[in-house]
Amino acid sequence: MFESMEMAPPDAILGLTEAFKKDVNPEKIHLSVGVYQDASGTTPILPVVKEAEQRLLRDETNKSYLPINGLPDYGQQVRQLLFGAEHEILAAGRAVSAQTPGGTGALRVAADFLKQKLGKQRIWCSKPTWANHPNVFRAAQLDVDTYPYLDASGTALDFDRMLDALKEIPSGDVICLHACCHNPSGVDPTVAQWHEIARILSQRGVLPLIDFAYQGFAEGLEQDASGLRAVLEVVPELIVCSSFSKNFGLYGERVGAMTLVAGSQGIAETALSHIKVCIRTNYSNPPKHGGAIVATVLGDAALREAWVEQLTAMRNRISGVRQLLVDTLQQKGVTRDFSFIARQRGMFSFSGLTPEQVDHLRDEYSIYIVRSGRINVAGITNKNISRLCDAIAAVL
Ligand code: LMR
Repeated sequence: MFESMEMAPPDAILGLTEAFKKDVNPEKIHLSVGVYQDASGTTPILPVVKEAEQRLLRDETNKSYLPINGLPDYGQQVRQLLFGAEHEILAAGRAVSAQTPGGTGALRVAADFLKQKLGKQRIWCSKPTWANHPNVFRAAQLDVDTYPYLDASGTALDFDRMLDALKEIPSGDVICLHACCHNPSGVDPTVAQWHEIARILSQRGVLPLIDFAYQGFAEGLEQDASGLRAVLEVVPELIVCSSFSKNFGLYGERVGAMTLVAGSQGIAETALSHIKVCIRTNYSNPPKHGGAIVATVLGDAALREAWVEQLTAMRNRISGVRQLLVDTLQQKGVTRDFSFIARQRGMFSFSGLTPEQVDHLRDEYSIYIVRSGRINVAGITNKNISRLCDAIAAVL
């Protein structure tokens, strides 16, 4: 039965982690998958996560199943982070959440819901977008189309072209937007531009699916939600797929959420009943541990404050590294202007390196970045920066 199968191509991002692990070069550098590393090159478990785990170890009384849509406390905390504790949506009960296995799980549940329960046919993604977006949406039988995002330099937003394309999206279609820290480019609209985007989406009757995987990695928890909240000022219905992989460093625990905002509490609850069917027929109900960690931290004022500090430290380190990369490339004699790297936000930088240059970096220097030229800036340290910049100078 299986012998006629051919090998599937490696995943554009996680396939590189597999290749990196096999590489025997002791000086190899891993800048592909979006995982934060501290100055010493390790991916830390946040102290607040350890503290929450200790409390769970002490207090947890069972390992029974969670409800299909996860821990109720978790959903409430997610909605407060997304919309702000005082938002009218919370008081009106217009939003419902499902705890999902990571942000990817949220995207797949959302896509299944859109296709199976709303009969949606098509979703529009920015060009470029996260390499896995089209795969997830197509796996749910949605057609994927694209709207332009970057200018010819590939390092800045082409807002006019983007807006012109949004005006052409057929009413009733779905659009995938990145709330902040656009993956792969690190290029985000300004708040004023978000208001413009929102106006067009509202006029066209296009349903936003907002991928919010990096809250707290651009400017701060509240500031990073301003795009989403601008859309909510004029668009009454949308879906948010969020994740605690990055801002809690809970990657392997798979902690995400799909949140749906509707026109009323009744409509939201009806929608949730269908979302639960999509979940039950997929993974039944979500894993418990990661969601319990997040709910423990966010439900305790002191732990929450400590989390914000630990998140701020991660964000500040990444901005420092961005500038370090720009400066070191210059010191190494690279004449191309890389100053845009310091302006991009979040974990990633779209470097402008070609696929051939990326291959060259991997084959000659054991430096792993995504073939689109996306560098995980959060993996750069004082220890690897010099070797990295020498290699980039050489391949350029
Ligand atoms: C990334 O883009 O590197 C992350 O979102 C991790 C992943 O699953 O691809």
